Parts: sequence; structure tokens; C-alpha cells
Amino acid sequence: MCGIVGYVGQKQASEVLIEGLKRLEYRGYDSAGLCVCHGGRLNLVKTAGRISALEEKIAGDDTIVAGTIGIAHTRWATHGEPNEANAHPHLDGPGKIALVHNGIIENYVTLKKFLQDKGYEFRSDTDTEVLVHLVSEFSRGGEVALETAVQLALAEVSGTYGLVVISADEPDKLVAARRGSPLILGVGTDEYVIASDASAILEHTANVIYLNDNEMAVVSRDGVRTMTIDNVPVSKEIQQIEWSLEQIAKGNYEHFMLKEIMEQPQSASQAITGRLDLREMRVVLGGLTEISRELAKVRRIIITSCGTAWHAGLVGEFIFEELAKIPTEVEYASEFRYRNPIIEEGTCVIVISQSGETADTLAAVREAKEKGALTLGFVNVVGSTIARETDAGIYLHAGPEIGVASTKAFTSQIIVEILTALMLGRGRFMSQSTMEQYIRELDAIPEKITKILEQSDRIKEIARTYSERENWLFLGRGYHYPIALEGALKLKEISYIHAEGLPAAEMKHGPIALINDGMPVVFVAPRCETYEKVLGNIEEVRARKGKIICVATEGDTDIEKLADHVIYVPDAPVPLQPLLTVVPLQLLAYHAAVIRGCSVDKPRNLAKSVTVE
Ligand code: AGP
Repeated sequence: MCGIVGYVGQKQASEVLIEGLKRLEYRGYDSAGLCVCHGGRLNLVKTAGRISALEEKIAGDDTIVAGTIGIAHTRWATHGEPNEANAHPHLDGPGKIALVHNGIIENYVTLKKFLQDKGYEFRSDTDTEVLVHLVSEFSRGGEVALETAVQLALAEVSGTYGLVVISADEPDKLVAARRGSPLILGVGTDEYVIASDASAILEHTANVIYLNDNEMAVVSRDGVRTMTIDNVPVSKEIQQIEWSLEQIAKGNYEHFMLKEIMEQPQSASQAITGRLDLREMRVVLGGLTEISRELAKVRRIIITSCGTAWHAGLVGEFIFEELAKIPTEVEYASEFRYRNPIIEEGTCVIVISQSGETADTLAAVREAKEKGALTLGFVNVVGSTIARETDAGIYLHAGPEIGVASTKAFTSQIIVEILTALMLGRGRFMSQSTMEQYIRELDAIPEKITKILEQSDRIKEIARTYSERENWLFLGRGYHYPIALEGALKLKEISYIHAEGLPAAEMKHGPIALINDGMPVVFVAPRCETYEKVLGNIEEVRARKGKIICVATEGDTDIEKLADHVIYVPDAPVPLQPLLTVVPLQLLAYHAAVIRGCSVDKPRNLAKSVTVE
């Protein structure tokens, strides 16, 4: 949700912290702040709004530029509105201890009362501020080591956190701890960078230590000590970040979202590379080898995830039932974790997540494991918590996805579902010839996506025509109903247009009442078994003067007679069609948002990784 950074080393901390915050801004961007320790004093600056506002505020402020150790934060408000007082870092009463936090302190009301009864004064409406006063309470004016005071404070806390603390009494030390929110430690040459994710660390080092839940680190110029929050030493392995700096930069694109939409031929290839053996014509999924016996016994699949990843799950339901003949259900992770799901022998729970840190999805993993299910993770971020906690999994290899609106991760999630279903299906009933056909078709997908991307300018003109309409509908059947949902979500989250996705046949059971003169209605209508039925639904909307935008299969001239606009995609076997039909909808949403002057990469009220419940 929020982004936190800590630095200790030789460089000017404020510069490193500001650059780190910029890399993490997609995690939350409603207020920001930093604190640097220099000359035994904590110097703090906070502001409402973007990192750029913070940068302006510290420009020329000598008290800030001096130090080589500090902490910083970019916020996605949960408790207390986005303003300067509620921005992090939070200071204790005497201004000796500062703290940044990502997560939610669930028992903060009780703790706040306890502290207020002891005379502590609160300057903000946040849950986080109780933490810094608790640490201050246990540090007893610096008599107690900072890490011990933090441990004592965390023993009182329930909830989630990724946090970094600094004290003027121990000016060379940072204390970091995590439970439920991600925290990574970058190990550089004579310097350390602590951050919510790797993108803020990469320009300093690729050597990282991933903290697990209930672990903490004491970082100083002399080195790092890692232990549990109960003070049991933990030895940690240094791992390598796979991504390059160039990959996390925008390049010549105006927005990360456009870059990531345009990268889909590569990201699709990367999801396939090394997993399609074109010589033996088989699927190879190294990440599942160890559990092949358990997989052979799978009798039921539950896919659980959130947002766009949930839409990928809905496509997966069709894919696993058609290509692997395994009964499959899809659950919102936020519902699954609380509804006491029935998990019998042979149940495999697949969780899908780009970030690998979404709190509801992580909790669903833990619930499924608690109930004895085999858990698989389809995740993009290497080393993320969901990747580490599932029994096995497959990385998407889509590369870093910075734009808040998920695009390339979605197509890679579907590819990984197809690969897994093909492997399971071939082990159960699928003939080698059918397998070979799907392998060839999947291998051809990247090129077909390239062809669709060439229509970006034409799609832009369609977006321009309707960008002022405040209500859109997206309709599809079968495999394409989830694509209609995804098209609607993309438009909603970046252009703030109200859009609804529906199974096309559901229209006449109510929503058709919404249709009025000129309302844009997008049909996902490639050639497939329900094509004729969709044509009927198009007629229903035309009769009520809705404006018809169709995504259709190349060469389909019939649909031209019914639609106001047609965006053609190459043909493909039905289970693979969602990989193609979603791309025009991503571009439609992107262009509509740009034309409406919206902040495409950082839409209001959203964050890239939802690490709180
Ligand atoms: C999609 O564009 C959104 N960013 C959001 O719905 C996202 O898909 C959801 O929060 C799940 O995130 P995850 O894939 O990182 O778990």
C-alpha cells in the first residue's frame, strides 16, 4: 500500500530516499515525508501530495541535505485523511525517535488510550503514531537499545506492518521489522537500503535479503543483524534481484501503462520461454516438478485472487475445465479467507497475484494451507511473500509492472493457466496431437498481439469519440465474459468513467434499461461457439440506439453491418482468444484516460499492491 525506504551509508541520504520514494510512488501517492539524522538531531519534512511536492519543500534545506542516514515514506491513507500531519515519518514527543510504517495497527485505539492516559499527546489521526510513542515508552529516553524498544512495542501490537525506525540517540542505526507487509534489505558496498520492494534498491545493489513475517533487522554502517521480533537470531541468505534498472524505467513512453501494454509480445514470450518444448512438443513447468505426484491426484481446483487477477481466475475456470477436465471454482480472496471453505482430499488452491503481496490473497493462501489444500502460486514478483508461502508455483516472468492498472501481468497470468492446464490435461486425457496444436497456437500468440498493438491510433480515435460519456457497458459470453469485466475495470480505474462488465445474455434481465441514445457498449465478440448468440445481443442494443464497439475476429465482415466500430484481432483457438481480445480493451481504456487528462499511472484512490485488508 504505502512505500517505505531507509538508508545508511556514505551518500547523502535525502537524495537516495527521494529517488527511492519516486520508484515506490505507485504504491501510494497522497502524502510523503522523510527524516534524516545529522549532528545528533532528527530533521523531518512532510507534505500532502506527491513526491515532487516533498522535493520542492526540501530543496535548499541544509538541515535535510547533510545526513547520511534516514527514513522516508509515500502514503496510501488508511487511517486519517491525506494531509501533512498524518504523513509519515511520525515523531515521538521529544522528537528523538522517528518511524515510517506500511500496514494497519488493528488495536491502535486501545493502545492510543493507554498512551494518552500516560500523558502522550498525539499530533495525527493515524494508527501508526501509536507505534512511535510505544517505542519511545519502552526506550526509556534512550536507556534501552532501539531494537529492544521496538521488540517490546511490537509485542503489544496486533495488525500488519513493514516499518523502519531511527533514533537520534543511536544516530548510526536503523531498525526494520515486518509482519504482513513486504520489506527487503539491499546490501550494497558500505551502504544499506531498506525498501518495500526491489525497485527502490536496484540502482544501489542487486544483492538483497528478504525479511519474512515476524522478522526484523538492525542495520548500521558496520553491518546487519537479523532476528525474530522475539529476539531469536536468524541467518538470512543474500539473493539477487532479477530485474534491470532499464526495465523499471519508462523509456520513451509517456506512461508505464502504455509501455507495459506494448511490452506484451515480449512478456508473453517470456511466460512461454523454457516452458514449451517445441522439439518434444510438451509443456515443461520446472516449478511444479517437485509436486507432480500431488498434482496427479488433484480432483478439484479453487482459484482465488483479487481485482484483475480474479478476472484471470475466471478465464482459468474455463481453461482448466476444458483443457484439463478438472472441476474449477473461482473465489474472491477477500471472501474465501472468511467463509470457511470446504477443502477435501485432492483440492488444489491456485492463487494468482502480480505483486505477490496482496493481503487478502496472502490470507487465502494461509487459509487453504490451514485446511490442508495443495497451494500453487502464479506470481510475478520474484521472492514475494505469496511466492515464498505457496507449496509450489510458476513465475509470470512479465518483468516489473509499475502502472497501477495491471495489463501485461494479466495476459501472462492466462498463459501460465493455459500451460498448467495443458500439462495436467496431457497427463489425464488429452491426445498428443491436440497438445501439439495448442503448443503451436500458444507459440504464435506474441506475434498476434503485436498485430493488434499496431491499431493503437485507430483505437485512440474510438476512445476520443466516447471519452465524454460517463457510462459504458462491456459485454461478452463464455471465455469473453471475464474479458468484458476486465475491460470495464481498466476503464473505471484509470479514466474514472463508470463501466460495467456483464455476460451479454444477462442484459435483458435488467441492465438493458441503462441503454440510451449513444451509450457506448463494447462487445467482445470473436468467432466462437456463442458468436451467433452475441450477434442477437448486439441487435438488442442497436434497437435501443446504443453505440456498438466490437472486438471481432479478422475477416468477420458480418459484424461490420451491425457495429459502429470494429477492432479486429487474429483468430485463435477459443481458450487462447482472451489473450488477444483483452488488448484492444486495455488500449481503449488507456487512450480514454489520456484524452480525459487523468493520471494514468497513478489513478486517484488506488495503489499497485494492496497490502492491507
Ligand atoms: C488492477 O489493475 C488493479 N491494480 C488491481 O485490481 C489488482 O489486480 C489487484 O489489486 C490484485 O493485485 P495482485 O495481482 O498484485 O495481487
